[in-house]
Amino acid sequence: MANLRQPDRLTGRSPGVEGSQIFEARNLTKVYHMGEVEVRALRGIDFDLERGELLVLLGASGSGKSTLLNILGGLDIPTSGTVQFLNQDLTAADDAELTRYRRDHVGFVFQFYNLIPSLTARENVALVTDIARDPIRPEEALELVGLGPRIDHFPAQLSGGEQQRVAIARAIAKQPDVLLCDEPTGALDSSTGQLVLKVLKDVNQQLGTATAVITHNAPIAAMADRVVRLHDGTIADVYRNDQPAAPEEIEW
Ligand SMILES: Nc1ncnc2c1ncn2[C@@H]1O[C@H](COP(=O)(O)OP(=O)(O)OP(=O)(O)O)[C@@H](O)[C@H]1O
Ligand SMILES: [Mg+2]
Repeated sequence: MANLRQPDRLTGRSPGVEGSQIFEARNLTKVYHMGEVEVRALRGIDFDLERGELLVLLGASGSGKSTLLNILGGLDIPTSGTVQFLNQDLTAADDAELTRYRRDHVGFVFQFYNLIPSLTARENVALVTDIARDPIRPEEALELVGLGPRIDHFPAQLSGGEQQRVAIARAIAKQPDVLLCDEPTGALDSSTGQLVLKVLKDVNQQLGTATAVITHNAPIAAMADRVVRLHDGTIADVYRNDQPAAPEEIEW
């Protein structure tokens, strides 16, 4: 893992390594202005992500899931409220600091895989490991997601589920502190999606990477350590699964 004891380049301060939270967001609001119209995407949310946990974020379309994830990942900034990342105030970071934060600490996985078609699986992952601080080798990352034998394949030679696993390998190869996944199974059928969820669970367990997964599919929540449900920009419900289900047991 990245050496968290070194002063972080985001703020120059030493992050607290004892705390149990990766993220601590308080009273987050996000208002989008569309001409005359105001859209209140988040209406005062408190949200924590704990070290090592696998969290599922549920909620109807438009409830604010992507907005919350994008703020945590430094892709967007809140209108008000604070986000602490390992005791550093993300909301005080400028653009350059947020760019470094994303590059060094966050792995993203989206519904669409965003692979470069002219590069092999290995080369797609190497794009990230070449600029990362403390990466694992692309081969190792692809092995972790079960794609060792496909390492020299181009995206067009891979199924949707395999392409998503390349995207996951790319996201984890830099050994991020947190993996943020926005509808990672959204474009996949249920059985292919199961494989992708199993990879996310394996990574979470083997690397201990704190992971937040957005999904529309409520049954997927059974695999989470903790489930947060958003409704209309607020937290409607939070609960813990004492015995998270194996992804293989989940169908949707
Ligand atoms: N860039 C933007 N500009 C204006 N409004 C936005 C923007 N992004 C999101 N919104 C609005 O904010 C609200 C929350 O959007 P968000 O994308 O977070 O929802 P979501 O829960 O991820 O939905 P879905 O499940 O459909 O992806 C919606 O009403 C949406 O239209
Ligand atoms: Mg969304």
